[in-house]
Amino acid sequence: MSKRKRSDDDQVDADAVSSQTKHTLLQPSSAESSLSTVVASHYNNIKETGLDVRNKSRIVYMRNFNNWIKSMLINEYVLAIRKECDVSSSLRVLDMCCGKGGDLLKWKNNDVKHLICVDLAQISVEQCEQRYNEMKERNTNSRCPDLFSAEFVTADCTKMKINELFGNQDQSFDIVSCQFSFHYSFESVSQAECMVRNAADNLRPGGYFIGTIPDANDIVLRLRQTNTRSFGNDVFKIQFSGDVTKSFPLFGARYDFFLEDAVNCPEFLVHFPTFVKLAAKHGLKLVMKERFRDYFQRMNDTGRQLLGRMQAFETYPAFGGSELQGKVEEYIHADEYMKRHRDCRRIGTLSKSEWEATCKFVSNFSKLRICSICSQRAYQREVIPSFLPVISSPNVSSLRSLATNFPTQRQLVATFFQIHIFKSAKTETQ
Ligand SMILES: C[S@@+](CC[C@H](N)C(=O)[O-])C[C@H]1O[C@@H](n2cnc3c(N)ncnc32)[C@H](O)[C@@H]1O
Repeated sequence: MSKRKRSDDDQVDADAVSSQTKHTLLQPSSAESSLSTVVASHYNNIKETGLDVRNKSRIVYMRNFNNWIKSMLINEYVLAIRKECDVSSSLRVLDMCCGKGGDLLKWKNNDVKHLICVDLAQISVEQCEQRYNEMKERNTNSRCPDLFSAEFVTADCTKMKINELFGNQDQSFDIVSCQFSFHYSFESVSQAECMVRNAADNLRPGGYFIGTIPDANDIVLRLRQTNTRSFGNDVFKIQFSGDVTKSFPLFGARYDFFLEDAVNCPEFLVHFPTFVKLAAKHGLKLVMKERFRDYFQRMNDTGRQLLGRMQAFETYPAFGGSELQGKVEEYIHADEYMKRHRDCRRIGTLSKSEWEATCKFVSNFSKLRICSICSQRAYQREVIPSFLPVISSPNVSSLRSLATNFPTQRQLVATFFQIHIFKSAKTETQ
């Protein structure tokens, strides 16, 4: 394991951490803990593939789109924190369930000062650290050599106080981020509570807890529509076992999730009102939540250039010798749009299956604001794929289409991820 270098000077006791990555996992001692092992083993066994392989994936655009959502979310809340108080030189972030470090660049681009990355899967943490080291090396040779300092910790966030493994246990964070992962904690009440406690205890007063999780209501709604125990499409499948006609328990409502060359793992439904209550118990209050579709609609103006740069949409029709990711029938929505907009020669979109696999909402906690939780209606929207005019080579009419037609005429597909954003309410209680 490579040694960790420290460049963070003021609050962290460098001797105390002695340049080592920390790895601690509680051993499974009961049936309840065994799924953590399954999850860790799944993520540990995912091979690191190069960019070439990733770019050939059937779900490359969906991945890019999800990454765009995360980038926008992170940018938005870094900006909010910077507006609310002057932490421009010392932004501290805790990335819970960091995976292989897919968000490192996002933190770098937001000029954070110190980042702690924690994950259950040791190999993922090692790869995350390696990515950081490579980034640091590239950065040293660049014109602005300052990169945030970082710590890498292997730990189960649902079973222990993770800050016991941090170099400085007393530091607090401006942002705690938990992307596409919080739902693993809903295996049991104690695990969910531990996860929330880890987020809340490590946030400074006024900090934000941001994240993305599956939309349990949407999953259950789709399940009920099928009259079977599973549903899915070309790129994903959700499989329940047992009797799915009865109500699901608040915790331990397990399903198996398969996503084209990315995930094959047990997950748990997150009963959102319970999540809100748990968060409130630990001083966090919902500020806002939005499904990915709504978040996208709100942010697509601000993030239009980034959408293009991140190639978050596939160009339809394919051109320049490239092929579409999905079968022709996966793009009927795009065809229909182009028939109605004859001046539009190409549009940016995802295939129907990818849209179905990727819509979500955002939530946000704060004692200062009134909770705004999505209405039931929001979960019940019809599943209709959507699209955008191509961003990378815009012309006036395609941009006009983008601005005017997209949100009102069609909805993004309702699917199974949500984004949650929480704000620590400790300020008020102190
Ligand atoms: C879908 S990946 C998301 C990774 C990363 N946050 C991202 O957005 O790219 C889910 C991650 O959650 C981690 N995870 C699941 N359960 C966990 C737990 N109890 N404690 C810490 N990490 C966990 C997995 O090891 C995996 O790396």
